Amino acid sequence: MKRLGVNIDHVATLRNARGEIHPDPIKAAKFLINIGVDSITIHLREDRRHIKDLDAKKICLLKKVPVNLEISTNNNIVDIALKIKPDFICIVPENRNEITTEGGLNLKRNASKIKKIISIFKKKKIRTSLFINPNISDIKISKNLNADCVEIHTGRLSNLVKLGKNYQNELDKIKKCSNIASSLGLDVHAGHGLDYKTTKILTKISTIKEFNIGHFIIGESIFFGLKKVVKKFKNIIE
Ligand code: PXP
Repeated sequence: MKRLGVNIDHVATLRNARGEIHPDPIKAAKFLINIGVDSITIHLREDRRHIKDLDAKKICLLKKVPVNLEISTNNNIVDIALKIKPDFICIVPENRNEITTEGGLNLKRNASKIKKIISIFKKKKIRTSLFINPNISDIKISKNLNADCVEIHTGRLSNLVKLGKNYQNELDKIKKCSNIASSLGLDVHAGHGLDYKTTKILTKISTIKEFNIGHFIIGESIFFGLKKVVKKFKNIIE
């Protein structure tokens, strides 16, 4: 069975747009847990553009499904994550000027720092994942750094599919990497830019065990939820 992790950063983005309390990401996490998602993902960014420290703390305290906390290698964020004690961490690259996480980690450049962070979290029995591009060398490095899991960045595949371009090479690359990672004992997740079509394409790769999806799920929910909400307002004002 493949697992579905839902990234709720953009519930917080919407809340922060007004600087008030609605929509509440903690309520979203509880809602998602009740409808059976397998994990909740949140990214505590250095600039706190969506999820804030208190959100992360409260969501990790729910304890109903695993919480996957995405963090950069920034020392301050690592310290906060250690205090918050999520079930999993996923180390991601972070650049203040990016709109979203544009690619995987540069493992060669950051190997010693990442290795140290992994060992700190492992001592606390927190599972560690590395967000990487689909290339074999990064899979092997991830194993050497003692990660439990790799999350393969699917942004390039998603863009090719959305633009109607040939995506076969990228898909083959992801499949090869996923199979090698799995044979090395790494759990394999996939995420970034996924929608119905790209997720369906990736389900053919048996070694991908979890999909982490955020933006599309939150965006698509607008269209599925509008009817109910408008109906409720019509009832109120009639
Ligand atoms: N996985 C990781 C590691 C991410 O950083 C993100 C986006 O921040 C996602 C999955 C979800 O990507 P999207 O919001 O495009 O579905």
